[in-house]
Amino acid sequence: MNILVTGGAGFIGSNFVRMVLQEQPECLVVNLDKLTYAGNLENLEGFLDHPRHVFVKGDICDGQLVCELLDRYKIEAIINFAAESHVDRSIIGPKVFIETNVSGTLTLLMAAKDKGIKRFNQISTDEVYGSLGPEGKFTEKTPLAPNSPYSASKASADMLVAAFGHTFGLPYNITRCSNNYGPYQFPEKLIPLMINNAINDRPLPVYGDGLHVRDWIYVDDHCRAIWLVLTKAPPGEVYNIGGNTERPNIEIVRKILQHLGKPESLIRYVNDRPGHDRRYAIDATKIRTQLGWRPKVDLDQGLAITIDWYLRHRQWLEHVVSGQYQQYYQAIYGNR
Ligand code: NAD
Ligand code: TYD
Repeated sequence: MNILVTGGAGFIGSNFVRMVLQEQPECLVVNLDKLTYAGNLENLEGFLDHPRHVFVKGDICDGQLVCELLDRYKIEAIINFAAESHVDRSIIGPKVFIETNVSGTLTLLMAAKDKGIKRFNQISTDEVYGSLGPEGKFTEKTPLAPNSPYSASKASADMLVAAFGHTFGLPYNITRCSNNYGPYQFPEKLIPLMINNAINDRPLPVYGDGLHVRDWIYVDDHCRAIWLVLTKAPPGEVYNIGGNTERPNIEIVRKILQHLGKPESLIRYVNDRPGHDRRYAIDATKIRTQLGWRPKVDLDQGLAITIDWYLRHRQWLEHVVSGQYQQYYQAIYGNR
């Protein structure tokens, strides 16, 4: 099978491409990525020159380029990871979230429809469902109620994908996953940011009371679920994916400090994120029962692998936090 992976130089996309190249000997992967601040060729270490991998630097908003790639490589399926992915950035600069996450997805959909693509897989997020109170979990039937510019852009993309299925018969799937962690994640998200700060004995900024709850999933478990959906799911279906590992943020931060042997005095409670969703929790019964998927890596195991990976990749970290990162850090954390 020949597939177009967009955003394959980012965190989840690069882990997905690596897994596919290792485990699916018949699969050719064309990897289209704009290389924004989050896209990094160093994430492709070990497979950049793989004979079944073609890397193309480009924008998913460029319809002509997308159509050329679909033709040239006889693409059968598109897996759309490309996105602006960080909530805090969407609060200080929402426009690019609409350009990439909404217009970019629309561009891919139009190309997929014109070229008769056999499957369009949209990589979405549990954040499209909004926030939960102390009880309950999101199911695929939970109404979309996004709260941040990021989640609003992802919900818009999901609706466009479903509309192309309904109106034009485009065969699609949407997966909505909870918070991922693992190697190659940019240190703006909770876990790698805290690891990076702790390694460098810098304060760990915990938003609000630290009791916001996320459901954590190791990135490989998410990637396996995506492959299963691509190859086994009937078209037109939405699947929630979650680790069944709900934890308050402060507990995650404490675990990281403990693993690194660093003191809890590094924790700083800082002003909350505006509009901060209180709790996410995923009911993944559908993908578990229909496709037989389940997560394999538990939180302690996954965190240990992840922290050790960052310790062994100090140079990777140094490269990604040089330049623009310092300005970003000042903009988000400077006045908290
Ligand atoms: P990321 O920010 O690490 O990577 C995004 C990638 O997309 C980068 O390589 C970037 O260069 C590329 N990109 C951005 N704009 C582009 C454009 N216009 N054209 C081409 N490429 C572009 O993000 P991630 O954490 O790997 O997330 C990947 C996808 O998974 C996103 O769609 C995100 O919404 C979704 N998701 C993420 C999580 C999570 O916890 N990280 C959870 C659920 C869903
Ligand atoms: P994040 O990794 O940004 O993912 P999302 O907001 O998309 O779930 O944040 C995860 C949780 O950690 C969220 O409740 C916000 C919180 N958080 C902090 O407390 N401090 C931080 O510096 C960051 C980046 C996040």
